Amino acid sequence: MRLDFTQGENALARALAARQSPPIDLTVSNPTAAGLPVPSIRLPQAPSYEPHPRGLPAALEAVAAYQGIQPGRVVLTASTSEAYSWLFKLLCDAGDEVLVPEPSYPLFGYLTALECVTAVPYALRWDGEWHLDASNLRFSGRTRALLVVSPGNPTGAYLKEDERAALASACRAQGCALISDEVFADFPAFEDRRRARSAASYDDLPAFSLSGLSKVAGQPQLKLAWIAAGGPGADEAVRRLELIADTYLSVSTPVQLAAPGLLAARGPFQQAVQARLAANRAALAAARGPGAAWDVLRSEGGWSQILSVPRSRGEEEWALALLEAGVLVHPGYFFDFPDGAHLVVSLLPEPAQFARAAAILARVLAA
Ligand SMILES: Cc1ncc(COP(=O)(O)O)c(C=O)c1O
Repeated sequence: MRLDFTQGENALARALAARQSPPIDLTVSNPTAAGLPVPSIRLPQAPSYEPHPRGLPAALEAVAAYQGIQPGRVVLTASTSEAYSWLFKLLCDAGDEVLVPEPSYPLFGYLTALECVTAVPYALRWDGEWHLDASNLRFSGRTRALLVVSPGNPTGAYLKEDERAALASACRAQGCALISDEVFADFPAFEDRRRARSAASYDDLPAFSLSGLSKVAGQPQLKLAWIAAGGPGADEAVRRLELIADTYLSVSTPVQLAAPGLLAARGPFQQAVQARLAANRAALAAARGPGAAWDVLRSEGGWSQILSVPRSRGEEEWALALLEAGVLVHPGYFFDFPDGAHLVVSLLPEPAQFARAAAILARVLAA
């Protein structure tokens, strides 16, 4: 079996199901469920079907302009998850390995297992900010790709120029490609000149940048994402991806017709999200106060926030105590932190609710 389909509910899910009233949900990462001004657009009629496996030309052009690359280097997918699955089909045979960051996006275990690919973790290093240390990468004869999430979920850390250069030389030596998930790239918490550009814009390494309307335009329900290919061999990679895309033809015509307008309208949505992220970061800092036994890890961007919490209780115990007090958070183990005790909260909830939850957090974590 590719997955353990027998996995049961964890204690947190059971406690949530047993509650009489809903908690304040600090796990919500769905922009359509967070009261944000998501542009409402009527999808165009598409009475006829003329499939273009990589995507309709106007949609490819709009995405290419957003990414700053040629339209011939873009492949549309229905989601970032689908983009990963197509890249694993492109790059890997069953049993091959890809390197995945820890802590990181919980879906990687499923996305790799479903393609019969082995996820080999590499630890991100925290010393006041998160680092990708190329000396932590454990390549084998079967390593085909390195996965990077920039900025990370949940770390919020962007890949830096020097880190990218070091991993590019390590990947080149091993003949492996870079897959860079950049879905949160438009949401920095501050400017930082050390940041690397989009991975597909460099020419020294086969690289694939992933993003999509879920985060860029706050429209996960429309199901449109993309792969931007760059570096040596990109044209051949796109030709092969086109064959994979032709096998599925999974992106609907109406969303492709709407893509240029949706991308053009992203500004007000992104500004509203940025204002909310800033308000909620400030609320957490204010709730913590000086000398607290828990801390808010400095974040460079993205929609989530890591809290380090006292080890006097396990991560799940903290999450259960918070749920009891009316706030739902993710325990750190959900994101595979290599060490320490952490909770992860989404910065997307409506600010008045978030501030109430932050006060409860501070009270429970002080206990
Ligand atoms: C790092 C990261 N990549 C991708 C996604 C999902 O993108 P999509 O909806 O396009 O599959 C998420 C969703 O939260 C995410 O956190």
